[in-house]
Amino acid sequence: MKVIKSIVEIRNKVNTLKSNGETIGLIPTMGALHEGHLSLVKKSTEINNITICSIYVNPAQFNKKEDFNNYPITIEQDIEFLTNANCDILFIPKSEEIYSSKPVLSFAFGSLESRMEGMHRTGHFNGVGLIVSKLLNIIQPQTAFFGQKDFQQVAIVKQLVKDLSFATKIHSCPTLREESGLAMSSRNKRLSNSEKTEAAKIYDSLLLAKKLINNTIPFDKIMSQIKQFYANSLLELEYFEIVDSNSLEPVRDMNRDNIVICVAAFLGNVRLIDNVVL
Ligand code: PAF
Repeated sequence: MKVIKSIVEIRNKVNTLKSNGETIGLIPTMGALHEGHLSLVKKSTEINNITICSIYVNPAQFNKKEDFNNYPITIEQDIEFLTNANCDILFIPKSEEIYSSKPVLSFAFGSLESRMEGMHRTGHFNGVGLIVSKLLNIIQPQTAFFGQKDFQQVAIVKQLVKDLSFATKIHSCPTLREESGLAMSSRNKRLSNSEKTEAAKIYDSLLLAKKLINNTIPFDKIMSQIKQFYANSLLELEYFEIVDSNSLEPVRDMNRDNIVICVAAFLGNVRLIDNVVL
């Protein structure tokens, strides 16, 4: 696997590959890779000749400095994982180049970001919009792969690609889970084994809500059961939302299609998110 750190070099490499007729798949990541990321790499290698993974912990999308500073960095292991997963190129841009000057442009995603991550992490999707636009512009891949665990992020990236007419198809890939049901996440690296067992209750809460929705239990009753569930755990609930899977608008009628249940909860100072699509 070739490691490239400069924008000019990756642009030249991609131009050469494309002029040879190669198709490019991009997996944008912030590193601390796990099997979930590697499933995106695998998907890309199945449908593209060349797979590029980027690793960049994007400061612009963190609303808390502490969260940015604590973000796990495991670059040696990431390189080993990517090499074994047949990734062709790893792009590790430098902050001096990516943000050579403070961006003036900002992104607003309207109702798509008015709840959940957008509401609780002010400026988060502006930062995601910036970095994803930069990466899509620099690499111009035919396809880019994102994990469904970040459900709202996928909706926002799809909107971004539509609004800015990027010639990249966005693939959203299923969330991979530990045996316990805990969604795989780079942030799990900050949890002890017993904390991981506790964190798996997040998925249990989603399954509970799913069961209640399937039994058309009214919204208020579902929410009071969910609150009770979290009160009996060590998790601190930030939000638990039942929304339309396209518009991300709240859903109150449980007797309908296109529902996604999204949750964010803290275990200590580790913030975890998950969702289940019905
Ligand atoms: O999902 C992530 O890891 C990040 O938000 C992304 C898409 C790589 C942008 O920094």
